[in-house]
Amino acid sequence: MFDAGKFVDEQVKTLRGDLKGRAIIAASGGVDSTVCAALVSRAIGDRLLAVYVDTGFMRKGETATVDGMLKRLGVNHIVVDASAEYFVALKGVIDPEKKRKIIGEKFIRVFEREAKKFGAECLVQGTIAPDWIESGGGLRDTIKSHHNVGGLPAEMNLRLVEPLRDLYKDEVRKVARALKIEVAEKQPFPGPALAIRVMGEPTPESVAIVREACSIVEEEIEKAASAGKMKLPWQYFAVLLPVKSVGVQGDIRAYGFTIAVRAVDSVDAMTAVYSKIPHDVLETISSRIANKMKDKVNRVVYDITNKPPATIEWE
Ligand code: XMP
Repeated sequence: MFDAGKFVDEQVKTLRGDLKGRAIIAASGGVDSTVCAALVSRAIGDRLLAVYVDTGFMRKGETATVDGMLKRLGVNHIVVDASAEYFVALKGVIDPEKKRKIIGEKFIRVFEREAKKFGAECLVQGTIAPDWIESGGGLRDTIKSHHNVGGLPAEMNLRLVEPLRDLYKDEVRKVARALKIEVAEKQPFPGPALAIRVMGEPTPESVAIVREACSIVEEEIEKAASAGKMKLPWQYFAVLLPVKSVGVQGDIRAYGFTIAVRAVDSVDAMTAVYSKIPHDVLETISSRIANKMKDKVNRVVYDITNKPPATIEWE
């Protein structure tokens, strides 16, 4: 049986011995990186700098929320707005693996910049077991390059420290609860963020559409779950498809994009089953999305594929 308390004590001790200088961590506000930041912060205090990068692909209100949460946790941190750089780097890029590589590489460059300013020698990452298992190498096939693995350039100038490398998601949540971290129950969110929920080029406009749709999906599903209508799925979000279809608004022809709603149940993200969401909840999501973005989206579909054969994210 995994003992979260013991894991915390052992890791803090190991990290204290291992990290003699300064370290930097990419803090996204997700469970993995927050647990990592809290562990390392316990071990070395303000010799850790957590860097939250606003890539421009974050969800609604996410930057302010994460900033507040890290403050309350007492983790030494900064917020870097790199959104302009990210949009330029991804101009014209539609291939999912290319997106992941570019985003991963840029992450490292931004960190290297901040690390230099801070005088850090180590880069701490919240990589967990499924990240490196699915990223391939050796005998394994590359399913998708998780940004914190596949995107790492070979000539990186920082020593990599990955305290959660051997843990699965459910174990990370146990550690989060042991550390009393507010985001312990938060659904996972991929490192490349909304950029991989736009099928096609992530532009400020396309990301704004999927950001609004994701926010509606989260709001409605959380509302339905707290009203006891359904169980909160393990993960739930929206994806913007590059497919345009014909619709009608009043008596005017419309030609707009399609949003796919995805909600799954899983334990460790290695397999997943689609959530059997009540139809009235799906209907509310659909009409809210289409009403809010009348001129852009006129069709909403629900993804009923398990993993395998699909993956949880679409890219
Ligand atoms: P897939 O789509 O491979 O996702 O079934 C499994 C879980 O991992 C999340 N995910 C990521 N997490 N960096 C991350 O930290 C990534 O690049 C990444 N890609 C996917 C995904 O949201 C799901 O929870």
